Amino acid sequence: MKMLLNTGGYPAIRPRRLRAAAWRRDMVAETVLTPSNLIQPLFVIEGTAQREAVDSLPGVERLSIDFIIDAARAAQAAGIPAIALFPAVDGSLKDANGSEALNPDNLICRAVRALKSAVPDIGVICDVALDPYTDHGHDGVLVGGKIHNDNTVDILRRQALVLAEAGCDVVAPSDMMDGRVGEIRATLEASGFADTMILSYAVKYASAFYGPFRDAVGSRKNLGAHGPRDKKTYQMDFRNRREAAREAALDIAEGADAVMVKPAGTSLDVISDLHRSVDVPVIAYQVSGEYAMIKAAAERGMIDGHAALLESLTVIKRAGAAAIFTYAATDIARALQAYSRGARV
Ligand code: PBG
Repeated sequence: MKMLLNTGGYPAIRPRRLRAAAWRRDMVAETVLTPSNLIQPLFVIEGTAQREAVDSLPGVERLSIDFIIDAARAAQAAGIPAIALFPAVDGSLKDANGSEALNPDNLICRAVRALKSAVPDIGVICDVALDPYTDHGHDGVLVGGKIHNDNTVDILRRQALVLAEAGCDVVAPSDMMDGRVGEIRATLEASGFADTMILSYAVKYASAFYGPFRDAVGSRKNLGAHGPRDKKTYQMDFRNRREAAREAALDIAEGADAVMVKPAGTSLDVISDLHRSVDVPVIAYQVSGEYAMIKAAAERGMIDGHAALLESLTVIKRAGAAAIFTYAATDIARALQAYSRGARV
């Protein structure tokens, strides 16, 4: 009989042995996506019992506060730890300085208060940025047609305080101004909000994949009305990888508790870099365009949408993300719960 010598190769070594049954694959899986890794973004509108479809974001609706509470309960029941709220503000309330952002009774603050009393144990994350509130659609204020960093930071730190006072657990500056994390942290500390977390959008690329989100909050049509058409003077250039480490390090030094990378799917290299180089959680955002592409292809029968979502989210975690914002969070979390009870993908 011929002895099989272990020569360090085939046939002694057969990697397929580890894949030969579902139980073997499950036993050795390096990455396990769980509902606690998923964060559900929600779009808020005025009114009661209102829901509006977003044409460019299949399956996503803008919801009035009462329905937001239902959605938060559903997310919590699916095991999701936190939701992220974005307001779709009436056009009549928008102005050049985004003043409505500082109104303690604005839509988002009312939503946060209602959520915190109805569903106290789910985390509430709010964007700190002016784009839902400005009539030019930019995240900051303009001086001489340009986005003025320091004037914007002074508004953002007050916006963060208004949100913290409403009960928001995590403020998430998504504006990409320089120095805003430090100013927000100092303002929160000085006002007794030591426990309010800052999730900084440290690495946010100027991306074509944000289009459906801008439809959902109603800012797409305003961009370019007065002021620049794009956000390239403040959001990062997607040609840059090392710059991401610099942005993240600055925000962490200023007091960020966690850093965000977005879009997730086009930044897996950056997520992986930061996972190694920084010591705070790296959170990734599967943005509107990434989600919409999968949904649109699935609607046309081109791909299996559920499998594609599960795969894309799992590899974002594999790259090093601690948690992921995704419009599919509740659906996927429900499926993950079913799988953990024995259902198979
Ligand atoms: C705005 C903001 C954007 C997103 C989150 N916050 C869009 C933008 O910068 O224009 C994008 C999210 C998505 O596309 O899902 N500050």
